[in-house]
Amino acid sequence: MSVSIVVGVQWGDEGKGKVVDYLTEQADLVVRFQGGNNAGHTLVIDGQKTALQLIPSGILRPGTRCLLASGVVLNPFSLIEEIDRLAEINVAVTPDRLGIANNVQLILPYHLAVDRGREAELAGGKIGTTGKGIGPAYEDAVSRCGIRLCDLFDARHLSSLVERNVAQKNAYLSRVLGTSDCFSAAELLLELNRLAEFLRPYATDVSIEVSEAVKAGKEIVFEGAQGCLLDISHGTYPFVTSSNTVAAYACVSAGVGPQIVDSVVGICKAYCTRVGSGPFPTEDFGVDGQNLREAGREFGTVTGRPRRCGWFDTAAVKKAVRLNGIDSLVITKLDVLSGFKKVRLGTAYTIDGVEVNDIPVSPDAQDRLQVVYEDLPGWDEDITAVRKFSELPLNAQKLLTRIEELSESRIVGFSVGPDRVQTIRM
Ligand code: IMP
Ligand code: MG
Repeated sequence: MSVSIVVGVQWGDEGKGKVVDYLTEQADLVVRFQGGNNAGHTLVIDGQKTALQLIPSGILRPGTRCLLASGVVLNPFSLIEEIDRLAEINVAVTPDRLGIANNVQLILPYHLAVDRGREAELAGGKIGTTGKGIGPAYEDAVSRCGIRLCDLFDARHLSSLVERNVAQKNAYLSRVLGTSDCFSAAELLLELNRLAEFLRPYATDVSIEVSEAVKAGKEIVFEGAQGCLLDISHGTYPFVTSSNTVAAYACVSAGVGPQIVDSVVGICKAYCTRVGSGPFPTEDFGVDGQNLREAGREFGTVTGRPRRCGWFDTAAVKKAVRLNGIDSLVITKLDVLSGFKKVRLGTAYTIDGVEVNDIPVSPDAQDRLQVVYEDLPGWDEDITAVRKFSELPLNAQKLLTRIEELSESRIVGFSVGPDRVQTIRM
């Protein structure tokens, strides 16, 4: 059997959930390794839509066990809402289907208040976060004052952590951020003690579970969230999320060595989108960008924000291939390009006429970045019923072939719509 890591190649929303769902047909274990309920994806199975945020897509495959590894940040309140939403469509998220790392960091209500208070303060320079408290929760983890799942099961210890943190956050919110938020440690404790009973059976040691699954030759899929260009270390900082989204982090988060990994699958759209602020070299501000947004229904699953739209950026994909060790690419939403007279591929960048091979790290250089494009002829046919590469219009075939050449990676699949049956292996 095999161990693979699935990551986003662009700025998130590439359709990772759908591909993980496709790949997990035979998986024994699906492990989400970073981010939290800032992520969101909609899966369509036999016409029925399901929106997931934190729980791995593998939950929709009855024989699969899902894990949330230590590098995830867990909002326990929204986890319960997600479990309830899944129950409504008859997916029972019982502790035998979902395990949560004992040492996962919790997102608590004060993290959301800090996230929103900071964004309000940034006014013109907003990051455009999802407002889910992701950054502030990771900050607490790194500054060693975070509260972890295991802390919920030790009432006395929990009480001292909550009292200290609530006092500090209240002071920060009112005195530094000037917001009117004020949390009660006693109320939060009451709620957390109640949640503890519910969550206790889900708590597990992810490192041991994953290692044993590897030893037993099980099929394991690691599911990333967001995308490579939102990575805290390698993305378009500071317009990034607060975790490492690259493949190597899967091992750090799960607590296993990197030698267990057999393959890294990168997911990218046949065009490109971004939500929130920050550089986006191939963004199209004209009618094409608008048409991509409408045809691709490019509105955030979590926040409902319209996504910024533009063209496939092969320089960015090459970077993602390098940063993640991607050996296979899956190109999603190819159907959205039907009807475009020409399809553009960003092939390189220049600054003041000099070619550069990466988005520069300094904001000044980013402002002067120009994109070199290659234009390919489009196609008019509706391709949503295509089930084989050879059934694609010739120009769509040529586009995939050209993407493969320019990104120096191998395309192993593409998708022509949101349904499970519209993801096609090549
Ligand atoms: P945060 O993760 O909420 O802190 O947001 C930081 C940046 O990452 C913002 O630009 C968000 O729009 C972006 N972001 C976070 N999660 C996702 C996602 O799942 N898809 C796309 N963008 C995301
Ligand atoms: Mg999404």
